[in-house]
Amino acid sequence: MRISASAPGKLILMGEHAVVYGEPGLVLPLRQLRAVVTLTAAPQPRLEAPDLNLFTDLSTGIAAMGPDVSTQSLHPLEVTLLKAQHHLHTHHNLPQQLPNLCFHIRSDIPVKRGMGSGTAISCACIRALAAYYHCRLNVAEVEAFAQAMDQIYHGRPSGIDAAVIAHERALRFQRDPKGAPVVRFLDVPHLALLIGDTGPAAPTADVVAHVARRHARDPRIAEVIQRMGALVRSAEQALRNQQWQVLGQLLFENHQCLQALEVSTPTLDHLITQAEALGVAGAKLSGAGQGGICFALFDAENPNVDAQVKALRQAWKPVCTQLYDFSAALSDAD
Ligand code: PMV
Repeated sequence: MRISASAPGKLILMGEHAVVYGEPGLVLPLRQLRAVVTLTAAPQPRLEAPDLNLFTDLSTGIAAMGPDVSTQSLHPLEVTLLKAQHHLHTHHNLPQQLPNLCFHIRSDIPVKRGMGSGTAISCACIRALAAYYHCRLNVAEVEAFAQAMDQIYHGRPSGIDAAVIAHERALRFQRDPKGAPVVRFLDVPHLALLIGDTGPAAPTADVVAHVARRHARDPRIAEVIQRMGALVRSAEQALRNQQWQVLGQLLFENHQCLQALEVSTPTLDHLITQAEALGVAGAKLSGAGQGGICFALFDAENPNVDAQVKALRQAWKPVCTQLYDFSAALSDAD
């Protein structure tokens, strides 16, 4: 027996942080980078995550099973598996205890970069476990589970990560005045992107809390957030009309707003300035910030685009721990 399930990474195109305050955000799945959970028979429940050098017996965690699974003493991956089992037990009348399986977890999505690695693991874990029981889960259920897991580890997430990763589709995300997610799928054509990784970011909950403190004290922060909402609305139109230069300018402006929120870093700012100097259509940080990734958008119709991609790769390479070149591959449409 061998059962596998996976989920993609994600890239927030625009609107991070502002989505927490009810503004819209635009986000893409990164299908090329995936978290994969593989289940095989084992004498007792066992977790293997070789990338993290984590090999544990899950029977100890089982003792703590239930709605109050201790998140203090267990590794987040153990908690995710136990919570997934608990969800299936509560909502689908399946056994309470994890079955005798080896849960092998690996991921191409780098951790703590704003690319959705934890959320993708949550989606892949519950899908794999449900597949083992031949239990059909709808996407909304996977999304709700991933959001509940993000609530444990990211404070008060807006839900944008859970939505894009569970649906695996480009989408516009916004919370209604009561906080409920409103999702609209987007038809995103080929986007030529280069992603630069500057290393681990600060925990999302801390960065979101930093913005919240400033928002409570300084009325100008609310204005910046409103401005970000307006930029996202313009970006939607530019995306629909495939106006890459227009979209790119909006990305640069969005980055300035993120600087005003104090979620950028000198390294991220340096990378964005380099992209601007090379005449790239647009660039900004992505995710909660204070580290993590930024990306550049190229105008694929520009005759110099190949030279531009090459020049930016060269400029970013010495600064970045990793580059992901999606300038030729498709980010959304396959
Ligand atoms: O998890 P990250 O780093 O991609 O941040 C998510 C985006 C935020 O807007 C900063 C937080 C949220 O929950 O929307």
